[in-house]
Amino acid sequence: MAEIEKVGVLGCGLMGHGITQVAAQAGYEVVVREVDEAPLAKGIGKIEKQLARAVEKGKATQEDADAVRSRIQGTVDYGDLADCDLVLEAITEDLGLKLEMWAAVDAVAKPEAFFATNTSSLAVIEQAASTSRPERFLGLHFFNPVQVMKLLEVVRCVTTSPEALEVGLEFGRRLGKLTVQTNDKAGFIVNRLLVPYMLDAIRAYEEGVGSITEIDEGMKGGAAHPMGPLALLDLIGLDTIGAVCDALYDEFRERRFARPPTLRKMLAAGWYGRKSGIGFYDYSGETPVENPGLR
Ligand SMILES: NC(=O)c1ccc[n+]([C@@H]2O[C@H](COP(=O)([O-])OP(=O)(O)OC[C@H]3O[C@@H](n4cnc5c(N)ncnc54)[C@H](O)[C@@H]3O)[C@@H](O)[C@H]2O)c1
Repeated sequence: MAEIEKVGVLGCGLMGHGITQVAAQAGYEVVVREVDEAPLAKGIGKIEKQLARAVEKGKATQEDADAVRSRIQGTVDYGDLADCDLVLEAITEDLGLKLEMWAAVDAVAKPEAFFATNTSSLAVIEQAASTSRPERFLGLHFFNPVQVMKLLEVVRCVTTSPEALEVGLEFGRRLGKLTVQTNDKAGFIVNRLLVPYMLDAIRAYEEGVGSITEIDEGMKGGAAHPMGPLALLDLIGLDTIGAVCDALYDEFRERRFARPPTLRKMLAAGWYGRKSGIGFYDYSGETPVENPGLR
């Protein structure tokens, strides 16, 4: 099987910085590419903070943390991905942007490199087919926060070769993830089940079944979920969820995947959840409180 030593990551946002960190922790050399220096510095800054915290808590030695950091190279230049063995994208959930990005990556990456997408809601095949190597293309779907969540969905699309699938499974194992294979149906396993549940929580709120806190507390206490659905939406990012449910709705044309009006209004207001400081909860104080604008 092909040996993966150097990994390229596209995007250093919520998911990209986490993937970069876990890959470097597993011993891979990682090049992470962003559109410009500001988001790159922000993402790498988050990794440095987490490494420092691990040292403070005695979970890692300073030498380990330094070694992990030294394996990460940030860049804004596609050319720096030229010698990567596996290139993984975690950029904005927009097919047009992803296809544009793959055209640039495909032009510089070595022919034997494997490509993977971390898309939450798009089918993998459109991206695979846009490259010169659809048989070396697969889905590697991580969960947020990547450093904590165990699961990695390894997605086989119709063109994915057995070797590419094995590369994905082995990559996941080396990162210490629980790998589950899925076929290329939009949403894969987890989001196909989880997204309608979260959207239904918004509808329950709209229908006055309970307050934001009551809905979240209900599902924590009654279903033993570690986090309520509305807090989870804020953690994932409402902009990402908006894109995810649009893609699932486009694919299946089912109401359960459609944007509830509250989500549409929150996005128009720029309330993206934790990443913008406000979503179903307001995160500006010491502890999150219900967003007063939603009452
Ligand atoms: N948020 C989640 O919980 C979650 C979970 C699993 C998968 N995903 C998927 O991961 C991907 C990224 O989501 P996110 O939540 O990290 O989004 P994000 O908005 O936090 O980060 C996306 C980053 O990509 C960068 N970017 C855009 N175009 C780029 C390009 N051509 N090259 C390099 N960087 C580029 C942006 O500047 C931004 O920093 C999406 O496909 C999403 O569906 C998200």
